[in-house]
Amino acid sequence: MKNKRVLVTGATSGIGLILIDRLMDAGYTPILTARNADKVRSAAAEKGVAGYALDVADADAIAQICAQIVQDHGPLWGLVNNAGIWLEGDFDAYSSTDIKAVMDTNTMGTINMTHTVLPGMLLRGRGSILNVVSTGALYTRKSISVYAASKWAIRGFTGCLEAECAPKGVRVMGFYPGKIASNMYETAGVERDLDVAMTPEQAADMIVTMLSDESMVWSQISGRALKDYV
Ligand SMILES: NC(=O)c1ccc[n+]([C@@H]2O[C@H](COP(=O)([O-])OP(=O)(O)OC[C@H]3O[C@@H](n4cnc5c(N)ncnc54)[C@H](OP(=O)(O)O)[C@@H]3O)[C@@H](O)[C@H]2O)c1
Repeated sequence: MKNKRVLVTGATSGIGLILIDRLMDAGYTPILTARNADKVRSAAAEKGVAGYALDVADADAIAQICAQIVQDHGPLWGLVNNAGIWLEGDFDAYSSTDIKAVMDTNTMGTINMTHTVLPGMLLRGRGSILNVVSTGALYTRKSISVYAASKWAIRGFTGCLEAECAPKGVRVMGFYPGKIASNMYETAGVERDLDVAMTPEQAADMIVTMLSDESMVWSQISGRALKDYV
């Protein structure tokens, strides 16, 4: 298990930060990444894991840092595309900068990370990619148009890649949580009652469960046996 290296994006807060602990508890070797270099340094030092500053909205940085990680530690067994940001309010009130940040992080960040990491997994015929999506990709409602768009795109991406990669031995999975008691809303300047939310610990435990059963592919909201594809 020790050589099952799992790169986690957005791992300095919320689900990602707790996931580092849970992965270590389960015997994996997590690699902690997030955008802010100072937070990465202190979180990695506190957890005793390797940490890299990696802004998933920067495609060039993804290619460069992922190559560095593989050179420093060896091939990745897993990738958790967790980095994400919230945007809420009337669509006409959003700035083009806000819209670009959400799409670049939530959507292109996940696609570009996958585009960089997947070829090595396909070459080895083994690996797991888990995208942290959201119930916001399962329904529509007012005030979350761009966040929903960013996650609906990843729901489609995940389902298509699941079918494409499973016959080649690589699992691509989606996790679709509802409200989680993390800093995501506060960071976006939004007040949210989190009394009835899932905890980041519960979310991280679900992710470890999904990663750990290598015979199953968990995408959309139901699971399928890997052998169903081959
Ligand atoms: N909270 C919820 O209710 C909820 C519900 C469903 C799904 N989700 C999804 O769960 C995931 C994790 O969210 P969370 O609730 O744990 O949020 P969080 O506590 O705000 O953590 C977000 C993490 O992402 C990082 N990040 C943000 N932009 C980044 C970028 N461009 N590149 C790399 N890292 C970046 C942040 O680090 P920096 O400080 O370095 O930016 C932070 O470590 C997101 O994809 C979110 O959409 C959350």
